[in-house]
Amino acid sequence: MVRQPSPEDKFSFGLWTVGWTGTDPFGGPSRPALDPWEYSDKLAELGAWGVTFHDNDVFPFEADEATREQVVGRLKEATDRAGLTIEMVTTNTFSHPVFKDGGLTANDRSIRRFGLRKVLRAVDLAAQVGATTFVMWGGREGSEYDGSKDVYSAMERYKEGLDTVAGYIKAKGYDLRIALEPKPNEPRGDIFLPTAGHALALIAELEHGDIVGLNPETGHEQMANLNYTHALGQALWSDKLFHIDLNGQRGLKYDQDLVFGHGDLISAFFTVDLIENGFPGHPDGPRYTGPRHFDYKPSRTEHMDGVWESAKACMSTYILLADKARAFRADSRVQEALEYAGVLDLAEPTLSEGESVEELLSTDDGFDPEKAAERDYGFVKLQQLAIEHLLG
Ligand code: GCO
Ligand code: MN
Ligand code: MN
Repeated sequence: MVRQPSPEDKFSFGLWTVGWTGTDPFGGPSRPALDPWEYSDKLAELGAWGVTFHDNDVFPFEADEATREQVVGRLKEATDRAGLTIEMVTTNTFSHPVFKDGGLTANDRSIRRFGLRKVLRAVDLAAQVGATTFVMWGGREGSEYDGSKDVYSAMERYKEGLDTVAGYIKAKGYDLRIALEPKPNEPRGDIFLPTAGHALALIAELEHGDIVGLNPETGHEQMANLNYTHALGQALWSDKLFHIDLNGQRGLKYDQDLVFGHGDLISAFFTVDLIENGFPGHPDGPRYTGPRHFDYKPSRTEHMDGVWESAKACMSTYILLADKARAFRADSRVQEALEYAGVLDLAEPTLSEGESVEELLSTDDGFDPEKAAERDYGFVKLQQLAIEHLLG
């Protein structure tokens, strides 16, 4: 039996996840839509700590001010009553056809100005409900045809948009940080900021980059055939891991948004190991302490019962993997294998303290490449120990 999740686990869900009615490009909804507070009440009951939403998960695109206030107020009341934290808010700049060529990087300037106003209003909404992270996923920022975009201009406008939003957050004194969510494709043929690395490179060019970081999603890195745990690791190293979207993906295909662990389970194990236990060679190194946020879609084959089962599955799998990752790190055989493999030695700087390049060049350390090439690392044994913990 897996223990019940509790608020200390810091599990959170997008309202659009359990709220997905099953609509896809090939078919209409297979489930009814509930009110936003019905989803949040149920998530609280299941042991979640937080919820997140897009502006238009809560009120329609065309809602007037009074409707916005009324619906948001009602949701906030419900989450307060249920003891849930609204930890992140985001904007939908992808569903309405006005955004078919993007929000911040649309070729049409009037649409960019409208998009920016919509984002800024959602920033106010995030602050109003007490969120501390504002995710920006630019799903429509991109192209299908290389000739249709001036990429230089697109980067300039992306930067301009992000700096405008970040500058606004600072000017308003909001306790909010922006987290960019990379994705390689879908819905656009090619999306700008396709991977965590691309997003980090753009952040480095920003004027207000200090409050802009990443929200990497498991499946999105894997859609680009990349290693999600490495993306988290590099973002942590750069002090830019502001938020995470956990889910499952099986290979290079459309964005599956499966339950966490229902894709590459071994990768999920090492993801949880990094989140829970940090870098093996850096016990005092940077740690991710934010929400364990799930961004998945309950398959459209499931009834509402299956929706709640799938939300529970995300949390149970995480708990199981966290227990196994702790046991893995505590196992003396693993400690030995880590040492044998030199994993901990990588923490030692390559140059000695105060050593100059000239000093490095003046010696060969008596190094014998043929001898060094004989070294065994035992990586396979280390990996097998992980598998045994995973299956055991
Ligand atoms: C997707 C994305 C979205 C974002 C969400 C929050 O591929 O559809 O993952 O679900 O996470 O829009 O910005
Ligand atoms: Mn996704
Ligand atoms: Mn996501």
